Amino acid sequence: MKHLLSAADLDRDSALSILDEAGRLKETLLGREVRKLPTLRGKTVLTVFYENSTRTRVSFETAGKWMSADVINVSASASSVQKGESLRDTALTLTAIGADALIVRHPASGSSAQIARWVSPEGVGPSVINAGDGMHEHPTQALLDAMTLRERLGGLDGRRIVIVGDILHSRVARSNALLLSTLGAEVVLVAPPTLLPVGVEGWPVRASTDLDAELAGADAVMMLRVQAERMNGGFFPSAREYAVRYGLGPARAARLGEDVVVLHPGPMVRGMEIGFDVADASSSAILQQVTNGVHVRMSVLLHTLVGTEGTTE
Ligand code: CP
Repeated sequence: MKHLLSAADLDRDSALSILDEAGRLKETLLGREVRKLPTLRGKTVLTVFYENSTRTRVSFETAGKWMSADVINVSASASSVQKGESLRDTALTLTAIGADALIVRHPASGSSAQIARWVSPEGVGPSVINAGDGMHEHPTQALLDAMTLRERLGGLDGRRIVIVGDILHSRVARSNALLLSTLGAEVVLVAPPTLLPVGVEGWPVRASTDLDAELAGADAVMMLRVQAERMNGGFFPSAREYAVRYGLGPARAARLGEDVVVLHPGPMVRGMEIGFDVADASSSAILQQVTNGVHVRMSVLLHTLVGTEGTTE
């Protein structure tokens, strides 16, 4: 696998290969005093972020460092982007410096795929990994969600995963709809009618506006943040109405079965899409998702930079 641009790049076997390797890496490193493997020694990994991030950027940096890569963080706000340098010139410049991998977050949908065409036109050049492109995709988030669900549920075949919230603006929802379906899960998207994307009928999912009806029979529920920054100041329904109809507050959470797993990709707005204490309950896998993000991103770096052979040691 040269690049990871979309969850659609992954068939069942390649997704399972990444997830299984991530599991082996987690097991290998668990409890070790020195979390350092030599696997990516000599490789240069650049994170290039045009949007803010805590989890994705830091976990990619951690993943690279735990495998001995040289990891350099390029923040658009502190780079020559501020002097007017284009995305193409920035990508070609970083390639010329010697990048083996470009990990890119950018507000434009399709930007990672475009960068891959620029820097690696014949398949020779750095690997490009999509760390979130606008409202399009966030494939490593979907992989870490799948890893967490497999750990909690024992597998994904036939499991019903309900994804709730601002589906319209969510790259997490789109990547999860693709990947979780590929892995055999039944995915249900729940949102107010104003936050369901046009064309959702073409996704491999069922869409609904009735959260309480869909929670019956769910194996897991993934709450999404309302992305006010992508709404140009307009948001309907109101925040209060949204919290009542689509939030996972304490009363609604108490009606869930004990084994129903609660996920959130973060950052979360406690009190809006998820109750203050619901996020900390034993059913919540939110911090497990964050931990798994490091191991999944280690595995993605291995698959793109080294290959698919078992490379844990
Ligand atoms: N889930 C996620 O992408 O979080 P960050 O924006 O903090 O990277």
